[in-house]
Amino acid sequence: MSQRVRLGVNIDHVATIRNARGVAYPDPARAAIVALDAGADGVTAHLREDRRHISDADIANLAAMLRERGRPLNLEMAVTSEMLEIALKHRPHAVCLVPERREERTTEGGLDVAGGHNWIAPFVQKLTDAGSRVSLFIGADPLQIEAASRTGAAVIELHTGAYCDAARDGEAAQASEILTALRAGATLGASLGLEIHAGHGIDYDTVAPIAAIPEVAELNIGHFLVGEAIFVGLAEAVAEMRRRIDAARVGS
Ligand code: PXP
Repeated sequence: MSQRVRLGVNIDHVATIRNARGVAYPDPARAAIVALDAGADGVTAHLREDRRHISDADIANLAAMLRERGRPLNLEMAVTSEMLEIALKHRPHAVCLVPERREERTTEGGLDVAGGHNWIAPFVQKLTDAGSRVSLFIGADPLQIEAASRTGAAVIELHTGAYCDAARDGEAAQASEILTALRAGATLGASLGLEIHAGHGIDYDTVAPIAAIPEVAELNIGHFLVGEAIFVGLAEAVAEMRRRIDAARVGS
C-alpha cells in the first residue's frame, strides 16, 4: 500500500521554550505556519490541564489561523469537562483524547478505554456531534482497540513511545516485539473500521518502521522536530521527516 501518510506537527514545545521566559516568543502559531509550508498536513497541540506549554490563547489563535488557511488542527486534551467546553467552543477539525497526570513529563501511557467506557463514550459523542473527528490515544492492546471501537470514535492513535524508547536504547528484541504489536493493533483497528494514527517519541531513526505499517494514515510528531529545529531550522526538520515518511511508504 503506498497511500500517503499525513504528518501532523506537534508544536507544544515551541510554547515550552516561550514559557521558560514568560515572553511572547517563539510563537507556536508561527511555527505552525513554517511546518505547514514545509510539508506538514496539519498541526497538533496539547492543551494540558496545567497549561505548562500551550495556552488557551494559543488554541484560540491556532484554531482561527488554521481555519482561515483550510488546514486541520488536532487538539489533544484530557477527558475532562473543562477541556470539553474549550473544544466545543473552537470545534477543531480533530480532537485526540489522551490520559493526563500532572506529575508526568509527557503523555506516558494510553487511555484506559476498556475501563473508562462510561466516562469516555459521552465525550466522543459530544465532540463528534460538534463536528470534530475524535481519536483515542491508546496502546496497541486488542482489549483497548476493541473498546475504542465501541465508543464510536472514528480514529485511534497508537502510542509509539515504548517502541521508540526501546529502539533508541538498542533493545532490538523488545523493539521488534512492540513493533509487531503495533502492526497487529493497526490491522485489528482497521478491521473494526477505525482510522489508524500513530505518535509519540518518533524521530528520524524510528519513523520508517512505523510509517511503513500499511494501515497508518497519520503520524503526529513534535518533540524531536522542535529539538532538531535548533540545528537545522524547523522547515528543514519537517521536510526531512516528510521525506523519510514518504520513502518508508514507497518501500513498504
Ligand atoms: N501524539 C500524542 C497523542 C501525544 O500526546 C504526543 C505528545 O504530546 C504526540 C503525539 C507527539 O509526541 P512527541 O512530542 O514525542 O513527538
